[in-house]
Amino acid sequence: MLFGNLAWHARLVAGCVLLLSLCVQAGPQPPQAAIVSAHPLASAAGQRMLQEGGNAFDAAIAISAALAVVEPYGSGLGGGGFYLLRQPDGHGGASYPFIDARERAPLAAHANLYRRGGKVQPELSLNGPLAAAIPGIPAALAYLASQFGQLPLSTSLAPAIELAEQGFAVDEVYRQRASWRRTALQADATSARLFLRDGEVPAAGSVLHQPELANTLRLLARDGHAGFYGGDLADQLVEGVRAAGGIWSMEDLASYQVVERPALRLSLDNGETLISAPPPSAGGVAIAQSLAMLQWLPWHNTSAVDRQHAVVEVLRRAYRDRRLLGDPDHVSNPLSALLDSRYLRQQAASIEQHRATPSAELAPPLTLHEGDHTTHFSVLDLQGRAVSATLSINLPFGAAFTVPGTGVLLNDEMDDFAADSQGSNAYGLAGSQANSIAAGKRPLSSMSPSFIDSPTRFASFGTPGGSRIPSMVLLAMLARQDQQPITQWPALARYHHQFLPDHIEHEKDAFTLEQRAELQRRGHTLKAVGRRYGNLHVIAWHKADNHLSAASDPRGLGQPLVFKP
Ligand code: DON
Repeated sequence: MLFGNLAWHARLVAGCVLLLSLCVQAGPQPPQAAIVSAHPLASAAGQRMLQEGGNAFDAAIAISAALAVVEPYGSGLGGGGFYLLRQPDGHGGASYPFIDARERAPLAAHANLYRRGGKVQPELSLNGPLAAAIPGIPAALAYLASQFGQLPLSTSLAPAIELAEQGFAVDEVYRQRASWRRTALQADATSARLFLRDGEVPAAGSVLHQPELANTLRLLARDGHAGFYGGDLADQLVEGVRAAGGIWSMEDLASYQVVERPALRLSLDNGETLISAPPPSAGGVAIAQSLAMLQWLPWHNTSAVDRQHAVVEVLRRAYRDRRLLGDPDHVSNPLSALLDSRYLRQQAASIEQHRATPSAELAPPLTLHEGDHTTHFSVLDLQGRAVSATLSINLPFGAAFTVPGTGVLLNDEMDDFAADSQGSNAYGLAGSQANSIAAGKRPLSSMSPSFIDSPTRFASFGTPGGSRIPSMVLLAMLARQDQQPITQWPALARYHHQFLPDHIEHEKDAFTLEQRAELQRRGHTLKAVGRRYGNLHVIAWHKADNHLSAASDPRGLGQPLVFKP
């Protein structure tokens, strides 16, 4: 009997050891799946993929395509974006492929594309087909499906096809974006027919159908990459663009490929790793530089205003360096110099605790423009695969030009180039040689899909918001470091500094009266922005406690989903 008990215990212990070692080998796995996105219908599309046996990458395809339908102002098949992936290696570690699906300038583009009579005409890079770079999202969806997904595109694109065909109800966010771009949409007959009603912003609740987009999605589902970049659809896209004054060619479409690049990585003092977007995004570099500088500043055990001052000063220095960055396939980005710890320590040391450093003291001017559209989502599946994706068509409704017969609303991402390398354009975007327009080049971006990963904790971050994206992501990461509840990471009032203009932009409630007074005393200029900005989404998985949570920005319509598929 005693012997029998011992044997039973021995088997139990051996079983536990085996289970434990399997767990350690396979790495911890999340107790549930999570999806955060800007629109409940897009999150539902992703949830359906996980329930139909797909993985996080299939869900990302379904979410991207659904967002193209229900948030036509934010992203779409006519736009581009960045996908940061987490691919567990089965031994507790992970790799982080980064898919660059940024749009490329057409091959006929050149540095003076938007110059007329010696002057840059900003309108030309904002509205109409000349503003549109070659889209990357269709290529990204096909690449994700063939390299990472488990489901055919016919399955992962099905929810978007249904939404395009059956229609979706206009919401207040749609109305606000469409009001902003009403004039541009009215100027293009196809966009006006699809996105307005009798030339006006549709009423809330009215149902928008996009049958041509459904057909385009079907071609992509059937033929993959070639369904969009070749064949009849490519002919139609090129003809439609050229007939309206654009410069696309068949070669532009035939030569478009996504690029898988090494993600930008930075080891943090606390043993965690930041994983973020490399160039052609300037965002990951700015976040990495800021986090690194903050490690050398008195951050813990100090007052809120000291921290705000420190954050502003590191952002000022990080954004100054942005002028050195551009498309890595065209210019050489001095990444090792910008992320060198001696350089960053020196930068941190130049911060005075009680005085704002005027940007003019630091270096020559650089100004950036900002926006508040684009879209971000994240997915984590039960195996620990994850996607953090930020997708864009630039301004709301992009170039406000839809290629007739295709339902494809084109981006105006060409405006992210420095249209004039000598001066600044009408939007205050100062030129930098590294980001000048050239044939086939990708414009510099601020989009910063990011992870922070370690053996015990994982988190995913991202938001739209143009040049303010990196500062928003940074503030959310700092809220996490501060162990604030996850709902606060996207909710906290925001502030931002981008080197020039030399002022702190902030949401009205970002600072108390005392903090405002103290920041001004230190020499900061404060500028409250009229409305709240950003739409940040986060997922946090505490591996050690086997706990998962997610939160969406209260400024948007997103509702986090945490569920067992
Ligand atoms: O790539 C970029 O940085 C911009 N095209 C993103 C635009 C954006 O986020 C607009 N606002 N939310």
